[in-house]
Amino acid sequence: MGRQRVLTGITTTGTPHLGNYVGAIRPSVAASQDTSVDSYFFLADLHALIKCKDPQQVKQSSQEIATTWMALGMDTDNAVFYRQSDIPEITELTWILSCHAAKGLMNRAHAYKAAVQANEEAGEDPDYAVTMGLFSYPVLMAADILMFKANSIPVGRDQAQHVEMARDIAQRFNHHFGELFTLPEATIEDDVAVLQGLDGRKMSKSYNNTIPLFQTEKQLRKSINKIKTNLLEPGEPKDPDDSTVFQIWAAFSAPEQIEWMRKQFAEGIAWGEAKKLLFERVNDELAQARIRYNELMADPGHVESVLLAGAERAREESSALMKQVREAVGISPMS
Ligand code: TRP
Repeated sequence: MGRQRVLTGITTTGTPHLGNYVGAIRPSVAASQDTSVDSYFFLADLHALIKCKDPQQVKQSSQEIATTWMALGMDTDNAVFYRQSDIPEITELTWILSCHAAKGLMNRAHAYKAAVQANEEAGEDPDYAVTMGLFSYPVLMAADILMFKANSIPVGRDQAQHVEMARDIAQRFNHHFGELFTLPEATIEDDVAVLQGLDGRKMSKSYNNTIPLFQTEKQLRKSINKIKTNLLEPGEPKDPDDSTVFQIWAAFSAPEQIEWMRKQFAEGIAWGEAKKLLFERVNDELAQARIRYNELMADPGHVESVLLAGAERAREESSALMKQVREAVGISPMS
């Protein structure tokens, strides 16, 4: 066995926010700098098409996400960083895997089941607005994973089932055609921070409670001032464990600083003051990267060239594997 190979994708929808940063981007950027593993990071823009039908948004989001990762220090020499749609072998493999993936397996996928259930509850046809893309989403994801012989797939709990399905599909395929695919395993990231949003619920685009990652300093200050607090006056002790301000502080701070803030809460720090300190902390961590982000957003040609160079590295592998897969299933030149 060679080195551990880690692969993960990010669906390119929406504008990155502090929750994405703390939960996914910051750990991935750190992982990209680890030279003891082979890492593959990609923009899952074909997956984005399942959720988003607005071409302008698909495009914008891809650029923002690629730029965000680069601005934050994604090591694109060490890690292979690419865009899914630049690897035509992925869509080809998706089809071939589709011919071996049991429909019954796809019927059990959570995202598809949730859509059907929502339709049934609304008294609609069970398949209302369910596209083939949504239904076969796990096959595309299996192709992403199996293409690069990844062992370890760091994902949130909600994606674990998809990795299991990729494993299942790989096993079945290997059984028929020989050991072409490596069996992947999900590495569930349970200890990553889930950030609360402005209203105290999980920070998420669907709740419209996010703090965008790279807004101007002024806008960031404004957003932080909008975090919901209670009516306790300055001087009254406040409960840090019930506070979004404290929770975000903790996600951006070292243990001593967390303890220090805990004490300020017990001593009745004013909400205005706590928010001011929080703004400074978050801004300090992001200020440099924000400058880089703005530079890179103004130079999309550079971002594009980095992605294309990543795709070139990725395709050395994908074209070699695809050749084997084609041969295995009987699609090869006649002479
Ligand atoms: N479906 C994943 C998500 O929405 C993104 C993704 C696409 C992915 N392909 C992948 C993650 C392969 C890991 C491996 O979060």
